[in-house]
Amino acid sequence: FNVPVPINEPVKGYAPNSPERTELLKTLKELKQQERDIPMHIGGQEVRTGNTQRISPPHDHQHTLGYFHDGAAEHVQQAIDAALAARPQWAELPWEQRAAIFLKAADLLAGPYRARINAATMLGQSKNCFQAEIDAACELIDFFRFNVHFMQELYRQQPQSQPGMWNRLEHRPLEGFVFALTPFNFTSIAANLPSSAAMMGNVVVWKPANTQIYSAQVLMELFKEAGVPDGVINLVYVDGPTAGEVIFNHPDFAGIHFTGSTGVFQNIWKTIGQNIHKYKSYPRIVGETGGKDFIVAHHTAHAKAVAVGISRGAFEYQGQKCSAASRVYLPSNLADEILGYVKEDLKSFKMGDVEDFSNFINAVIDERSFDKLAKYIDGAKADPNAEIVAGGNYDKSKGYFIEPTVIVTKDPKYVTMCEELFGPVVTVHVYDADKFEETLELVDTTSPYALTGAVFAQDRYAIDLASKKLVQAAGNFYINDKPTGAVVGQQPFGGARASGTNDKAGSILNLLRWVSPRAIKETF
Ligand code: SER
Repeated sequence: FNVPVPINEPVKGYAPNSPERTELLKTLKELKQQERDIPMHIGGQEVRTGNTQRISPPHDHQHTLGYFHDGAAEHVQQAIDAALAARPQWAELPWEQRAAIFLKAADLLAGPYRARINAATMLGQSKNCFQAEIDAACELIDFFRFNVHFMQELYRQQPQSQPGMWNRLEHRPLEGFVFALTPFNFTSIAANLPSSAAMMGNVVVWKPANTQIYSAQVLMELFKEAGVPDGVINLVYVDGPTAGEVIFNHPDFAGIHFTGSTGVFQNIWKTIGQNIHKYKSYPRIVGETGGKDFIVAHHTAHAKAVAVGISRGAFEYQGQKCSAASRVYLPSNLADEILGYVKEDLKSFKMGDVEDFSNFINAVIDERSFDKLAKYIDGAKADPNAEIVAGGNYDKSKGYFIEPTVIVTKDPKYVTMCEELFGPVVTVHVYDADKFEETLELVDTTSPYALTGAVFAQDRYAIDLASKKLVQAAGNFYINDKPTGAVVGQQPFGGARASGTNDKAGSILNLLRWVSPRAIKETF
């Protein structure tokens, strides 16, 4: 068994009349005509409670895609029991066998599941087909294949032995179960959090965001077909506090794999701390949390490149990537030119549903997010410190649509320069072109987050200065490129400070968190 370094899954183009477009359109149509009944999955059983909640596309909230069965504390308990029952056999299975399951999952996703996972992500999470393709298909295929490769590397790392002595490391799975708490914004992340822990021999209780359940269901079918045994990954739908109450009081709680808000993660950490005496082992706490990702341009920057960095970096998937640019620092000599290009770009960004593939912008995820964003936009409209130079309109009559919005402010500490908005709103501060170094200081200190950031400059001293001054400001740092679109195996993803534990998704660092090695010395 030898898994060579994989090649990133090629992105399909979905050109008019291409086979992939024809299949995707057909799948979208089929899914839209069904009302799916969506059960939980516990120990390989479909569990229905009859207490259902409706799922609708964010861009068409009157349409019904299906209903999911909401669970309660007892279902979380059942999921833990099922996981622990599956654990001995799964943990004992040779790693090559586990690897084969996830390699098969990758192949299924690249082939027969591709249209379905993309269509479910488009409808359930309002993602255009190109954004769905790079997430639910390519990034997830890459997660499976690269993680298998990294797993092999990890297991092969063995200590020195000598004549008369055999030393070895046994990469044991954690003793207990792992809780995966996953976000709506990337189907690939929602799948990677449970599967990377499971791949290392762990059993998992998985609670997705309600707004991702529609595609989570497809992922569960994929896991089953690929051969993940019953009980290894258990999917429950239950509100956060109810899940937390059962999970974090359980003696076999062994770790959490989380992507979501900083506030929720900090509360979880506190709860785990309060309960620490109840657990068999110190639990692994792995999380990717908030961001206030930046773009800073130097006076030597290429204006057009900065503009593309802003319009793509801030507005792809309606600014709902954890990596999305949301605060921008432009030098006074270039600001007008750059903003001119951004406004031109935005004119070509059509907004609407996901079935018309020419729509670049779709809806934001739900009403809560819409209302929050509308409030910030209204605030900017009423504030003399802020000027809206593009967008600023919103409408939730059919779907949760927010126009890509650019706010310009003289105040580098203006509220939308500081707070995480998670939507298609970017704020620009124009600085005196001579004050690059002072501006870097501002970039570093304005936000508690440190997920992604980008510097644009052609001057090598400026690039070097920014790299040094912003050494802690971003876990993913881009030079002359937008701060989104990290590719598995190329730019391992994650941030520090209030943005997470920086255990780089899709890397050996992440997989290491899901094993508890035993060092064995044997003498002959
Ligand atoms: N890969 C995504 C990005 O960098 C995040 O998971 O945008």
